[in-house]
Amino acid sequence: MRRKQLNESVAYLKEKGFDNPEIGIVLGTGLGKLADEIENPIEAHYNHIPFFPLATVEFHAGKLIFGSFEGKKVVVMQGRFHLYEGYDFTDITYPIWVMHQLGIQKLFISNAAGAINLDYKKGDIMLIEDHINLQGGSPLAFKNVAEFGHRFADMSEPYDIEMRKKIEKIAKNENISLQKGVYASVVGPQLETKAEYRMLKILGADAVGMSTVPEVIVANHLDLPIVAISVLTDECNPDQLKPVDIQDIINVASATEPKMVKLFRELIRSL
Ligand code: HPA
Repeated sequence: MRRKQLNESVAYLKEKGFDNPEIGIVLGTGLGKLADEIENPIEAHYNHIPFFPLATVEFHAGKLIFGSFEGKKVVVMQGRFHLYEGYDFTDITYPIWVMHQLGIQKLFISNAAGAINLDYKKGDIMLIEDHINLQGGSPLAFKNVAEFGHRFADMSEPYDIEMRKKIEKIAKNENISLQKGVYASVVGPQLETKAEYRMLKILGADAVGMSTVPEVIVANHLDLPIVAISVLTDECNPDQLKPVDIQDIINVASATEPKMVKLFRELIRSL
């Protein structure tokens, strides 16, 4: 990570009008529609932002959007970077460093995930309370990390308690059934074997996915409060495992997305 590159990325976005956003929002796979609700949007395609990772073919639509949501200035990532695309930990978290530098004070994250806890069903929303990093590395493992924040980032409470309480209250008021639990991150892109799903359950995971944890580690390093929500797209029952269809995962994410948008919208209103 180089300060100079970060400064150039930020200068480009400020020049475009990304003016002091308060909240950063990361939209996961199949969860891009919240971006349509941003008022007076200014868009910056990832491929045009200096030093941003180059978007791969599948994610050519990737962009940062600045605008107003429920009266607050936000910056939204429509599409994120994953290790399985061949990026490294610094690449996939680069947008978090940039949004922090732009001035965000809170970070909202969403993702699509498989349900390991079999009480949880496809189409449920899960508030992430804690996580297990199974990606085999850290976005903070670079030489000059201490220039930016804590090298030995504290992870005793990685997800902000106050915002979690608010989400729970909102879900209750809005009649949205809300699961809570532990998210395990894997590299992917292959889905898990039956034996791996059994292992994840033994480890204490309630959901599994291929993102989020690196972003959360960086946010903790930067003292940025986080709230994160998983949209559960498939049930990972090792005793009755059917082939997983990625299109089905995307379809379930899209169908469940309105609940996530509602939770984020009401959370922003409450801040
Ligand atoms: N495993 C890993 N990642 C996922 C899954 C899964 O079952 N579902 C959605 N993302």
